[in-house]
Amino acid sequence: MRKVQPRYARVCECAHANYDMENLMEKIISLAKRRGFIFQSSEIYGGFSSCYDFGPLGVEMKNNIKRAWWDEMTKNQEGIVGLDAAILMSPRVWQASGHLTAGFADELVECKSCHKRFRADEVRSTKYEETKKKSSNLQTSDFRIRRCPECGGELTEPRKFNLMMKTFVGPVENEASLTYLRAETCQGIYMNFENVLNSMRLKIPFGIAQIGKAFRNEINPKDFIYRVREFEQMEMQWFCRPSASKTPRNRRGTKRGTDAEEKNNWGPDEWFEYWKKERLNWYLKLGIKKENLRIVEIPEKERAHYAKRQIDIEYKFPFGWHEIEGIHNRGDFDLKNHSKFSGQDLSYFDEETGEKYIPYIIETSGGVDRSFLVFLVDAYQEIKGGRTKTTKATKEIEILLKIDKKLAPIKIAVLPLVRNKPELVKKATEVYQMLKPYFACQYDELGSIGRRYRRLDEIGVPFALTIDFESLKQDDLTIRDRDTMIQERVKIKDLVKVLKERLEN
Ligand code: GAP
Repeated sequence: MRKVQPRYARVCECAHANYDMENLMEKIISLAKRRGFIFQSSEIYGGFSSCYDFGPLGVEMKNNIKRAWWDEMTKNQEGIVGLDAAILMSPRVWQASGHLTAGFADELVECKSCHKRFRADEVRSTKYEETKKKSSNLQTSDFRIRRCPECGGELTEPRKFNLMMKTFVGPVENEASLTYLRAETCQGIYMNFENVLNSMRLKIPFGIAQIGKAFRNEINPKDFIYRVREFEQMEMQWFCRPSASKTPRNRRGTKRGTDAEEKNNWGPDEWFEYWKKERLNWYLKLGIKKENLRIVEIPEKERAHYAKRQIDIEYKFPFGWHEIEGIHNRGDFDLKNHSKFSGQDLSYFDEETGEKYIPYIIETSGGVDRSFLVFLVDAYQEIKGGRTKTTKATKEIEILLKIDKKLAPIKIAVLPLVRNKPELVKKATEVYQMLKPYFACQYDELGSIGRRYRRLDEIGVPFALTIDFESLKQDDLTIRDRDTMIQERVKIKDLVKVLKERLEN
């Protein structure tokens, strides 16, 4: 058994230092299960490792993350259209993309004693200290190449392990029916580059966005939903000129054009910087703390096989800094290879300048599951003694999920002050039915009102509406704000408008 607990505990002291964060990941995993965010796959059969199911709250929050990304890319940005390509594609796609060769493989080592398998890069870097405790005469250099982090046994020499998941299409399982579950969604975008360009009458630069499942046969899935074998990506491929225009085009004939005209002249370097900034801002706009995000420039020898330049956006998880999104300058690697392998010329003819070229691609590639974990971890707070000093639960630890309102799985809770007064229950039910078509709502009448507020804070519900005896006379109710705990009376007839405004601001 891997001992993950001390690792989480050790790192989270500095990562989230403002409150007791011991065993933060265990607490988040427990909350996720207890409150219906995330369950282990196939749990009644003992669980299916590396796969997770998103429960009633999880699916709402996941959809909200995807919606926030989709709106950002297709509405807030210029020139990006959407696509939803099939997961299964011709196996030739993966030959051309380089994913069937060493380019898309991790180095694997196996322990000769316990037969556990590890990614060679991880074994080299993280486990020496833990193993040394068990086997006192180990040397760092010795461990780095040969020792198992679990039992200290000897490791095999690293060998390449391809991450593509195989499957067979049709009733016969042979070489001819073999294909792969896609390992990155962007290949479906390259397959449709010409279809989208022509059907939408687009001009370079433009982008194609897609959200969808991807599969990788990871050697060592770990850290809850951080590294799994089935996950979702949110990818945008930006097709641009291979270099900045030497004779800047400015259709108005003035020295400086509009912002959009200036951008028409940009090459891959300028667009790379643009997308780097935009993508980092997306996380910040959704409330992620600045100090928990950083950008890392990836040196040439560590880049993906297709990347001319690569940066990773990293988040400070309780288990350390790790990649959550990559920005890649893929150059003409993909379209050139697909042109070569398919025999179809995928070059672009610029009618304004008369130039013909294979467009360069700047890719933004994020993970839905990793973003989900980031939003959960960053929002999670524990308040010793609770925030409300009037309830008898003040000695307990209160959990507050201070998640952005856009992402919160449930937006509104409707609560009768007590459940044994039929007139309060009736009015609360009417309010709940009135709001349900507009917002993700929850009705809750069980337990004291203080307990109910706490339950709602734990899952990040931004607004709780309470129907009390005053409501029966005044036809109003109180709105409690999750973050400030301030309660205000609002007329029921104004509710939809008021809540819409508050959720949007
Ligand atoms: N098309 C480029 C590409 O796929 P990547 O860096 O291999 O680039 C992009 O993956 C993103 O996909 C990662 O930053 C991460 O958010 C997500 N991702 C990749 N592998 C994953 C895994 N095994 N589990 C969860 N998310 C993963």
